[in-house]
Amino acid sequence: MQTKSIAVLGGDGVGPEVMREAVRVAAAVAERFQRSVRFSEGLVGGSAFDEYGEHLPQATIDLCRSSDAILFGSVGGPVNQAHLPKWRGCEANSILALRKSFALAANIRPARVYQQLRKGCPLKDEILSEGVDLVIIRELLGDVYFGEKVTWIDGGRRYARDVGAYSEDQIAMVARVAFETARKRRGKVTSVDKANVMQTSKLWRDVVREIHGDYSDILLEDMLVDNCALQLVKNPGQFDVIVTSNLFGDILSDLAAALPGSLGLTPSASLNAAGFGLFEPSGGSAPDIAGRGIANPIAQILSAAMMFRFSFDWKDEADALERAVEMTLQDEYRTADIFFEAGRKVSTTEMADHIIERLR
Ligand code: IPM
Ligand code: MG
Repeated sequence: MQTKSIAVLGGDGVGPEVMREAVRVAAAVAERFQRSVRFSEGLVGGSAFDEYGEHLPQATIDLCRSSDAILFGSVGGPVNQAHLPKWRGCEANSILALRKSFALAANIRPARVYQQLRKGCPLKDEILSEGVDLVIIRELLGDVYFGEKVTWIDGGRRYARDVGAYSEDQIAMVARVAFETARKRRGKVTSVDKANVMQTSKLWRDVVREIHGDYSDILLEDMLVDNCALQLVKNPGQFDVIVTSNLFGDILSDLAAALPGSLGLTPSASLNAAGFGLFEPSGGSAPDIAGRGIANPIAQILSAAMMFRFSFDWKDEADALERAVEMTLQDEYRTADIFFEAGRKVSTTEMADHIIERLR
């Protein structure tokens, strides 16, 4: 039996405690399906800085390189310590460098409102009648994130410039991921850009339309990013798959992550062209609640499900895990962040226990 090796990077704050549970649950899934998995821990973020003086040490990169997938927790420290060297640039140094090192160009961020948790969604009931179940596919290696960055002084005045560029190959790659994703869902792609203003967006729109030629079974619509932000609040039920550039995707995916009612529910995947990927919760390290055993492990657990699905091609395993999470929510087990009305309040570990119970 082939063993899948998983680099486990818990990081900071609640990262290690939700990761512990995700590893336990992932191991239980593997056992049930008679799969062999090996977990190897590495340091990243502030915890790596304490040991190595950097946020993403070479040892961690090497560990990831020798693994089949990266399960990532979260990094970063308390806001009032942001000025300390340990935390300065921590998130960007850790996560942007990993994206770049492993060419993780396609970011998949689902957002769905579980019927059982409707109360947690900040939108009105009548807006939720159609349900919310969408996926944002965000390009991760282009745009202003990795373009030229300069600051200069001229005539005593300060200036700054970030260059945002795209090649047609970069756009084509995520467009294909979006159409393939839509094919397994409801068959609709909304391509989001600012083609009324930006050259990169005009190229984006052209290339997405060209790639659409290979996917005539999928419905494609274009939408301007400002309108998309408005539509996500007024009528999120219209969306199936949204595909967009790096910066727009960053902003829209935070908006979408607010809809389920807690950041503790939403996983994400970042994939390269070969299917290798990094899987992480959408939320941050939440240092304010770290170490208290109350963080919601579901986003981390569902990140493991995405790892099964996208990097290992273990569809049944991913389905079983997602179903177990849904059943646990159905049975009204709630960590503090999703305790909206009735329900049984549970700790981080108890939530994972209930999910494992429902796997059997
Ligand atoms: C995200 C984060 C990162 C990004 C930051 C930490 C650099 O906001 O993953 O969305 O902007 O991509
Ligand atoms: Mg972001």
